[in-house]
Amino acid sequence: MAKLGNRGLRVLRTIHLVAAGLWIGGAVALNLMIAGLSTAESDGQLYGFNLACKFLDDAVLIPGAMGCLVTGILISSLTNWGFWKHRWVIVKYVLTIFCILFGTFYLGPTVNDQPEISYREGLMALSNPEYIDNYYSSLKGGAVQILLLLLMFLISVFKPLKGRGRGFVPEHGPKAS
Ligand code: HEM
Repeated sequence: MAKLGNRGLRVLRTIHLVAAGLWIGGAVALNLMIAGLSTAESDGQLYGFNLACKFLDDAVLIPGAMGCLVTGILISSLTNWGFWKHRWVIVKYVLTIFCILFGTFYLGPTVNDQPEISYREGLMALSNPEYIDNYYSSLKGGAVQILLLLLMFLISVFKPLKGRGRGFVPEHGPKAS
């Protein structure tokens, strides 16, 4: 497959970094909102708060995660970094796919179900076991996700485990450090 030139790689890397920023920024903002802004004093406030959390998830966090995956795949396909040449890239695939599945099947429902409960029950939702369970699950699960994202930033910058073994020499080694 044809490889990108320097300029193309820079553009792709920029989009990758913007997506990574959106993902971690959205995740940190959502966790801070859930931890610090959930002391609603009226039914409408609680519902509005839950809607805002869902909006942040849908409009920032999810596009960031998808953007990272898509640009990651493009970087692998269109540059010499490849898919399997470096263990750090493989680790990023595993962690990214894990975070996306964790976000879709575990974290997503804990945020998506809240507006419906608070719309139906108003402030009484605060003593609904399902609402409380969702609240703590998204806080704890969100913290795990943020730690994994930070780990991916570290892996990306330090690029440990280059190659796949001692004698590994990529066919056309990437120029990047
Ligand atoms: C499918 C998943 C991913 C793949 C295959 C992937 C692959 C790559 C590759 C090959 C580079 C090096 C580009 C270059 O220097 O030319 C890179 C850079 C980078 N990636 Fe990813 N990535 C993925 C997901 C992520 C995620 C989830 C994050 C963070 C949330 C992230 C953060 C970064 C950062 C910060 C850099 C820039 C490192 C630097 O230039 O020093 N990536 N990625």
